[in-house]
Amino acid sequence: MTVIAVLGSTNMDVVAYVARAPGRGETVTGRELRTVPGGKGANQAVAAARAGGEVVMIGAVGTDEYGSRLRTNLEHAGVDTDLLHTAAGPSGTAHIVVDDEGSNAIVVIPGANGTVTALGPGEKAAIAAAGLLLLQLELPMTVVTEGAMTAKARGVRTILTPSPVQPLPAGLADSVDLLIPNEHEAAELTGHTDPRAAALSLLRQVPEVVITLGSRGCLYAARGGEPVFFPAPEVTAVDTTGAGDTFVGTLAVALGEGRSVPEAVGWASSAAALCVQRPGASTSMPYRSEIDAS
Ligand code: RIB
Repeated sequence: MTVIAVLGSTNMDVVAYVARAPGRGETVTGRELRTVPGGKGANQAVAAARAGGEVVMIGAVGTDEYGSRLRTNLEHAGVDTDLLHTAAGPSGTAHIVVDDEGSNAIVVIPGANGTVTALGPGEKAAIAAAGLLLLQLELPMTVVTEGAMTAKARGVRTILTPSPVQPLPAGLADSVDLLIPNEHEAAELTGHTDPRAAALSLLRQVPEVVITLGSRGCLYAARGGEPVFFPAPEVTAVDTTGAGDTFVGTLAVALGEGRSVPEAVGWASSAAALCVQRPGASTSMPYRSEIDAS
């Protein structure tokens, strides 16, 4: 089986469920507070493992009580955590407001994620031995770039979720095989609010792009071809947190099994549609049997 390495963040999500998010200077009363394991890296790792992938997580948790919960959550999903280090200090946290439409707004405090600044021999070996590397931008840019360059040097296919969005250094963009931004991130990276124009612009940096469009679906584009739109299943969302990560983790499993990106997006969209119908990030990610049955 193709091993999927994830070099990324683990966060404890502190989630307030409210009818509507407060505006600037406004106080609103919420309905419920939950702490749920999240972090874009860990979410993608859990999604891939639940979809049937063999997954190795590279990153760090803190020495606080969240750290052991975040590690255990990954282990329960079947993710290899030997390279998930424990760094003195707090774990990463994400402070999330989810409204009645299932939309969210997130503030991330990096905590232990910020201590992952370089790869050691063990991390480099794990990336070299993997078939796919999943990256996001919640670890320092130096280590994300090092991970991508390590993968490229070993012929390991690399998928980058450019979130939280920021300009991509040349060394990173040049090493990425597939970029998966959402439409806001794609617009921020290119200056184009039209997803098709954004996709064509991004193809100047990377060979393949999937722009996720939320409930509308996604747009796939590869160099030399026309962008293709894929609709998403129609569902009622209760919490969209982690839906993009579910899409990426599930897509990675399908690619590892030899499917092409256009062949795999339908399966990944089904997984994301299941995720948004449940609250929380990693807690809402579907198992393979559920995806196949949907
Ligand atoms: O993509 C969703 C994730 O973003 C949340 O789980 C939160 O931790 C933030 O990293």
